[in-house]
Amino acid sequence: MRTKIIIGNWKMNRDRKETIDFLMTLNHMISKNHLLTDNLDIVLAPSYLSLIAAKTYISRGGLFAKNWLKKLIVSAQDANSEIAGSFTGAVSYNQLKEEGINYSIIGHFETKSIFHYSNEDINKKILSLTNNNMNAILCVGDTKEDKENNNSISSVLEQIETNLKGVLIDNLEHLIIAYEPIYAIGTGNPVSVENIIEIINAIRNKISQLYSLDAAETVRIIYGGSINSANYMEYMNEDNIDGLLIGKTSLDVTAFYDIIYGTSQIITNKYPSLGNNYFLLKKKELANTSKPLPKKLKERESKYSSQQNANNYKTNIDENITKSSVDAIQQIKNSEITSVQDEQD
Ligand code: PGA
Repeated sequence: MRTKIIIGNWKMNRDRKETIDFLMTLNHMISKNHLLTDNLDIVLAPSYLSLIAAKTYISRGGLFAKNWLKKLIVSAQDANSEIAGSFTGAVSYNQLKEEGINYSIIGHFETKSIFHYSNEDINKKILSLTNNNMNAILCVGDTKEDKENNNSISSVLEQIETNLKGVLIDNLEHLIIAYEPIYAIGTGNPVSVENIIEIINAIRNKISQLYSLDAAETVRIIYGGSINSANYMEYMNEDNIDGLLIGKTSLDVTAFYDIIYGTSQIITNKYPSLGNNYFLLKKKELANTSKPLPKKLKERESKYSSQQNANNYKTNIDENITKSSVDAIQQIKNSEITSVQDEQD
């Protein structure tokens, strides 16, 4: 099974303080309610200026250090393919790597239209990243005209072919493909699940032709375009959609948290053996001490003893999410921001 992935693309929004504020709040929300599975990757792509602050906060573990936070991946939104040189305004893949940033979105439609990156430029970026043990989130997408002229599949596959030219099969583990139809980005109108699956299947076939069936089955292919906390479930429920690239909604910590939490519920309900990792970890931790399992943990564990009970628990959690999110933000604003800022200054 491919691990699902949720990627937040902040574009040119939020400063350093706001980034830390967001991470603290998210950390608090997740720590308080506990994710139901470890089998979910979470990525955040803030602006260049916030990357190091985010990375530092995460490696310190924040004030509510939990295992999940250490797993949060910080990604850049673009990377120059050259190691160094006269590229005013650019940041090289190597500079990112030196700061411990091993992921970058590449070829987002906005970078193609604003900075005029060609598919060949994107190919160079993908090669630089994947040849250097870095991970590329490659965006491909069709235009409205492509769709109207029934050219969506051929347009996307052409991009895949050019963008992946020379990428080694052994380096495909460093690749995530995001299908982002241009007419769905920032419009509030996501593409239907059926349309997405058609394109994703075509991409998988292409990967199979270019590489191997095994490679095609392993590579993660996700969707991006107008996903929010009200519509993500339909997409995340699909086995063929490995995750979501989320723009605007990822700026809202409560909405982003709801999507993460809801997805962890989907994974746990579909694949119970992948769930309950929090309980397993906690039990393992307590097994090394003479402490009995706390009453609260026992109660939670028994609530998960059957699918039906898990669903009941899900409903309770759903009802509590909004309230706990608001409480969390308030609590953190009151107490923690000041102490972390003191620490940083
Ligand atoms: P959106 O953006 O979720 O705001 O539509 C998606 C993206 O640009 O990656």
